[in-house]
Amino acid sequence: MSPTIRRAVIPAAGLGSRLLPLTKATPKEMLPVGDQPVIEHTVRELVDSGITDITIVVSGGKGLIQDHFRPNPGLVEQLRADGKDAYADAVEEVADLARRGHITYLDQHGPYGNGTPVLNAARAFGDEPVLVLWPDDVFVAKVPRAQQLIRAYEKTACPVLALMPMDRSESQRYGVPVVKEDLDGGLLRLTGLVEKPKPEDAPSSYAAIGGYVITPGIIDELREQTRRWQEHRTGEIYLTDAINEYASTRAVYGQVIQGRWYDTGNPVGYLVAQMASALAHPEYGPALRGLVKELDDADAGEGATAAS
Ligand code: G1P
Repeated sequence: MSPTIRRAVIPAAGLGSRLLPLTKATPKEMLPVGDQPVIEHTVRELVDSGITDITIVVSGGKGLIQDHFRPNPGLVEQLRADGKDAYADAVEEVADLARRGHITYLDQHGPYGNGTPVLNAARAFGDEPVLVLWPDDVFVAKVPRAQQLIRAYEKTACPVLALMPMDRSESQRYGVPVVKEDLDGGLLRLTGLVEKPKPEDAPSSYAAIGGYVITPGIIDELREQTRRWQEHRTGEIYLTDAINEYASTRAVYGQVIQGRWYDTGNPVGYLVAQMASALAHPEYGPALRGLVKELDDADAGEGATAAS
């Protein structure tokens, strides 16, 4: 079995343009889903999976992320003095999560593309594999997605991509893997990844869902891409290109992830994630379900009146 993974990178320098104007002043990573900002779901998933070294790669305007995870001793003291211990505990728990995940922040530097933040963080990796998770995916799973990826890496000692079954009509939104062999437990041997193909060109019915185990060999490919960019000043630095280059000569795997996935990076996905987590809330969920039914019945009633 390969050594386990303890580092992770969360690229969080993106503009969140698909959610404008909501993300005009608020980073998309800080939009709430349930009672946590989106990025806290990702950090929790990582810490629950045993990750002890998280790098969040940021750009200007992302200071709220740091504020959220920072300890607030003054606020906690005030809340305790006011007898509001439950709030004080909740505030302390978030800072403690950040401490357990040993979050550090890095500014993104370099050419456009989602490979750049990974390369920025790579100086600290040495020879270790790392997890890369996009910050706008929220997973609800018995075994966290990150843990499922780590297990696949422990079996294969190779790069691993998180995959979910996809309706082919959605292929133009995702990287679609080329599957060579279907192994046990949702593990697939891949020969590459086609980025956002037309449905008729999609090589499989799986989508890459923004979770990767990246090994030093992939980092070398990203370095090579960046070197070419520095020479010619053209192109962009993409993880998919690095993975494809790597997969042309070496083994890459996909792990079909068990669980529910919410892509909060687009307006519909964000609203669905909001609604699902509100309805699943242990305290407020039951009342909200009743309310949804009431609203639905009322709409149906109004429809009936208008039609009659
Ligand atoms: C990126 C990846 C793509 C993947 C997607 C998942 O695309 O390039 O392969 O399927 O994330 O969210 P983006 O959505 O950033 O265009």
